[in-house]
Amino acid sequence: MADTITVSNVTKEYGTAVKTKALRGVSFRVAGKEFLSIIGQSGSGKSTLLNLLGLLDRPTEGSVSLLGTDVGALSKKERAAFRNRHLGFVFQFHHLLPEFSVRENLLIPTWIGGSKGAAGVPAETRKRAEEILDFLGVGQVADKSAEQISGGQKQRVAIGRALMNSPDILLADEPTGNLDTENSALVYDLFRRIHREMGTTFVIVTHDRAIAQQTDRIIEVRDGLVSQDVQNEYLDGRGGSSK
Ligand SMILES: Nc1ncnc2c1ncn2[C@@H]1O[C@H](COP(=O)(O)OP(=O)(O)O)[C@@H](O)[C@H]1O
Ligand SMILES: [Mg+2]
Repeated sequence: MADTITVSNVTKEYGTAVKTKALRGVSFRVAGKEFLSIIGQSGSGKSTLLNLLGLLDRPTEGSVSLLGTDVGALSKKERAAFRNRHLGFVFQFHHLLPEFSVRENLLIPTWIGGSKGAAGVPAETRKRAEEILDFLGVGQVADKSAEQISGGQKQRVAIGRALMNSPDILLADEPTGNLDTENSALVYDLFRRIHREMGTTFVIVTHDRAIAQQTDRIIEVRDGLVSQDVQNEYLDGRGGSSK
């Protein structure tokens, strides 16, 4: 079976007059359905790397393969289709649309492109949204405006939105960066459950040591290079890893 992720000698340079080399030759492989974190100081290149994995940007040199596809060879349109089909994103800030309900925030990506709005969303998609909201423990606020719910609930809804397309790979950039300890732990637990029950590969960029230490593999980025790549022996006793 193809690797889930193969990153080969990737560099990324920003700017033309003044150049910043954000990545200086990064390589690693993710085989199978892993649950890993990327750590490193601010400015080390973590978000740059995650954006390349998410097809939100292209490397200057080197290649990225996802699920056996060399994504550098895809056209802009094909990249968007690949993203919609295989990838999910969770960011530090939830980016929910405040003027819509929680349920609508999950359905909007489906009805964009259709002319009938919410009414045009297929029944099975609506059912999936209900199931996901229940799974994440926010089913009871489905009708509330996304503005009315708590910060922790908002991030869970953002996770739900990322799950709507059943992504193979979920990319998270500081997903707990804006949450208190309790909600951070809850997000971690949900990620674990999603990984276990849905088989989603997780790549989590985080400053939060408590989170990183509970992932199965930790990749440390320093000055645009991988400085450490270790399998983590930590077992949290909550059924996260069965090794
Ligand atoms: N769009 C951009 N244009 C120019 N420089 C950027 C851009 N994005 C990031 N950088 C620079 O690239 C380096 C790595 O940034 P980033 O990947 O955001 O680091 P991290 O997520 O680890 O904090 C930093 O020096 C940052 O200033
Ligand atoms: Mg960052």
